[in-house]
Amino acid sequence: ATDGSQLWFTNQQLSPKVKTAIPTTVCIQEESATFKIIKEELAKSFPALGVGDVSFTKKSTKNIVLIGTADSKAIASMVSEDEFAKLGDDGFLIRRKQGDGTILIAANTEFGALYGVYEFLRLLKTSATDLVEIDRVEIPSYQRRILNHWDNLDGTVERGYAGYSIWKWDELPGTISPRYEAYARANASIGINGTVLNNVNANPDILTKDYLEKVKVLAGIFRPYGIRVYLSVNFSSPKELGGLENSDPLNDQVKSWWNDKADEIYAMIPDFGGFLVKANSEGLPGPQDYGRTHADGANMLADALAPHGGIVMWRAFVYNPDGDDRAKQAYKEFVPLDGQFRKNVIIQLKNGPIDFQPREPFSPMFGAMKHTTLMPEFQITQEYLGFSDHLVFLSTLFEECLDTDTYAEGPNTTIARITDGEVYNDSITAIAGVANIGEDTNWCGHHFAQSNWYAFGRLAWNNKLSSAEIANEWLEQTFTQDADFVAQMKRVMLQSREAVVNYMTPIGLHHLMGWSHHYGPEPWCEVPGARPDWLPTYYHKADSMGIGFDRSTTGSEAVLQYAEPLRSIYDNVSTCPEMYLLWFHHLSWDYVLHNGNTLWDELCYKYSSGVDRVKVFQKIWDRMEGKVDAQRFKEVQAKLAIQATEAIWWRDACLLYFQTFSGKPIPEELDRPVHV
Ligand code: GCU
Repeated sequence: ATDGSQLWFTNQQLSPKVKTAIPTTVCIQEESATFKIIKEELAKSFPALGVGDVSFTKKSTKNIVLIGTADSKAIASMVSEDEFAKLGDDGFLIRRKQGDGTILIAANTEFGALYGVYEFLRLLKTSATDLVEIDRVEIPSYQRRILNHWDNLDGTVERGYAGYSIWKWDELPGTISPRYEAYARANASIGINGTVLNNVNANPDILTKDYLEKVKVLAGIFRPYGIRVYLSVNFSSPKELGGLENSDPLNDQVKSWWNDKADEIYAMIPDFGGFLVKANSEGLPGPQDYGRTHADGANMLADALAPHGGIVMWRAFVYNPDGDDRAKQAYKEFVPLDGQFRKNVIIQLKNGPIDFQPREPFSPMFGAMKHTTLMPEFQITQEYLGFSDHLVFLSTLFEECLDTDTYAEGPNTTIARITDGEVYNDSITAIAGVANIGEDTNWCGHHFAQSNWYAFGRLAWNNKLSSAEIANEWLEQTFTQDADFVAQMKRVMLQSREAVVNYMTPIGLHHLMGWSHHYGPEPWCEVPGARPDWLPTYYHKADSMGIGFDRSTTGSEAVLQYAEPLRSIYDNVSTCPEMYLLWFHHLSWDYVLHNGNTLWDELCYKYSSGVDRVKVFQKIWDRMEGKVDAQRFKEVQAKLAIQATEAIWWRDACLLYFQTFSGKPIPEELDRPVHV
């Protein structure tokens, strides 16, 4: 199919590098639902790839693909206990046994074996290796690699741009959409092993018996793919569902309500993952309603789940406009609670201090809570980055955050190392991505938006992968291995995030999007009823003197939440990285940047360069005609046309608006605004 429904399973061609013969006899000595999936994958892929028809055997001979765990005698004799010990639960090794041609895929668990098989198939389809001397061990960076669906029980998706939810709650548990298994397969193929099914703005009904029956069915479909189900819960559930007087976490009746609920869930879903909680944020209930802390709330839920092995992911996205700089709020509420959370609580933290902007500096909570387990939350759905209309490869955004050095324990305390357990030795490690999946035929609305789901999974598996590698393998599996196509489109993908930063919010600007919908430009926001921090100029503070939010020590002092030397680097206008300049400083329109341009001129150049980049993307894509199927070619072309128009819309809206403050002309050599 050329409609995108097959995701990255589209291109079934053997990579040109795989010259060596691949054995067509596959030895699997174990039996389970997961091993059955492994067999089906190979039985499907081998003929499609031109390797040949597979024959399965339980007898270990020469020149075979041998797959399994230590429970398989053939495997146990080839892999030492030491080697197994290193692999952990989900890790695997792939090794070509020299001499007889056998390819060994071994793991401690059947899920590790499944991941190994997907990796093996990825290697066959991409140009990553020739497989002749393959000998690699893969161990995931995070134990829990989780998608967060912001899907509502009525079928809508909050910030979803690919149609309605894939969960058909009204049809479940009786009717089962084939999409459920396709979803599980896609996730398993990139190592995702958890899914939160419902919106963080949680409807209490998800915990009713009726809904749990539906959840149970989904959990059953996902289980052999190694995927656990989690649920977002509403903190007021005991009151709303249980009819209790309140939902105070220190109330014994409330505690027993949650204990009973946990027992009920685990009786139905023994491998249930746990709860995700958004509390005391954007009007949702939480422990603070009763004068209690986030720790009181999270610990009560954690105690209910602990006997069953469940975890609580407690979100630090607390947003209640309070007059102070919004960027400081989460840190102010959470850092004082460091050390007070139970072992099975993990604080889920958006990458930036505000809200999934095209670019933000990292949230200063990373590194500031040394006795609390933290997990990053990325947004795969493009709430602030052009929905499913703009081609934006988010891998570079995720990578930028993970690679950022917080200096919390001196140099090289990167967010990757803080969250994957290397720095603080956390017993649980996890990472979350807000899904961009819906019922659209191509799953994500834009063919290239699939790459963001893919990239999240790959980085959750290995937070050291580069975006270039990820783009490469995604393009090859999704479209073609044509070297020119891959090289050109990889460049487009890698430049796409910087382009959107430039045409929307360059030089550290942020939150210029329209109130509520977050789609187009509205730096003048004048909507009655908008939150106080959305009022005109809250985020950009433009005036006749200049532009930017002073978060330095002369302003809101948000810089003080960062460790040294970052605090001083960000605080000082001449050392502050220019990409964060107007995030941390209010500067005059005539301020001169390192390249000699005034701030006003630089703003004009940046907006224009964002627009120009998109025009280049269009030209490159146009040249790809014939290299990809006509359907996806046309659909991507149409989306790029929207993006190009809207990049101009952004540039013109922002520059013409800011010009009312700066009073300066747009440099002669740049295109004139078309929207006047
Ligand atoms: C953003 C988004 C909301 C969402 C919230 C959250 O503010 O616009 O729709 O509920 O983030 O992450 O909880």
